[in-house]
Amino acid sequence: MNKLFSLDSRLSLCAGFVRRGSRLADIGTDHAYLPVWLASNGIIRSAVACDVRPKPLQSGSDNIEKYGCSDSVSTRLSDGLDEVSPDEADDIVLAGMGGELIVKLISRTPWLRDTSKRLIMQPMTKAFVLREYLCKNGFNIIEEKACAYAGKKYTVMLASYDGKFAEYPESFYYSGMLTADDPFAKDYIKEIIKKLNYKACGKRHNGETDIPEYDIIEELRTKFGVDSDDKC
Ligand SMILES: C[S@@+](CC[C@H](N)C(=O)[O-])C[C@H]1O[C@@H](n2cnc3c(N)ncnc32)[C@H](O)[C@@H]1O
Repeated sequence: MNKLFSLDSRLSLCAGFVRRGSRLADIGTDHAYLPVWLASNGIIRSAVACDVRPKPLQSGSDNIEKYGCSDSVSTRLSDGLDEVSPDEADDIVLAGMGGELIVKLISRTPWLRDTSKRLIMQPMTKAFVLREYLCKNGFNIIEEKACAYAGKKYTVMLASYDGKFAEYPESFYYSGMLTADDPFAKDYIKEIIKKLNYKACGKRHNGETDIPEYDIIEELRTKFGVDSDDKC
């Protein structure tokens, strides 16, 4: 048997949110590292590793075989969760895809609106779009953690449907459930502030006077203890 690999910090955070004994659906699985690692460590009962493209799915299949997980992990060609049925998955991971794509995949899967299902999401871009969608569509962001990997900062969120449609201040969509004591949150928030500042500067140069980004930046700075650096 091949010696098992370690997960990178991004996938490690995803793994940490998966419930012991759950059935997993890993959407956009590519190499299938996450389901293979979880199955090999006896954390999940089963997994369906899905990808929309045959080539990544083949690399996933190769790893499942290489690490001896074929009994509990299978692959499936699927656009999002289109080919996954509710009785196959308790915990659903959507990692390494853009926030807007994750929103699209969740919104067209009605069976995710079930309080027993858990969503574990790691958006590569536009995390704020994903958070806003979740909050305005009855999902509760239960927990969120940040990490750094290969010089980049990421966030991973755990959410579940509770049918409540919560209103949050705009700044919440940029920081979610991250807390100031998360060792990687400050660096993650620094990058978010940089992007917001860039957007605000663009508006200022265009002569706009209504620039809500400055209020959001201020709230994030205060909450996470980030110093001011708002050069345009
Ligand atoms: C960057 S990889 C992420 C792999 C792994 N989840 C991770 O986080 O390391 C993104 C994968 O998502 C797949 N993907 C993109 N759109 C998808 C969709 N609509 N449904 C399923 N998979 C998709 C791509 O083919 C690719 O293999």
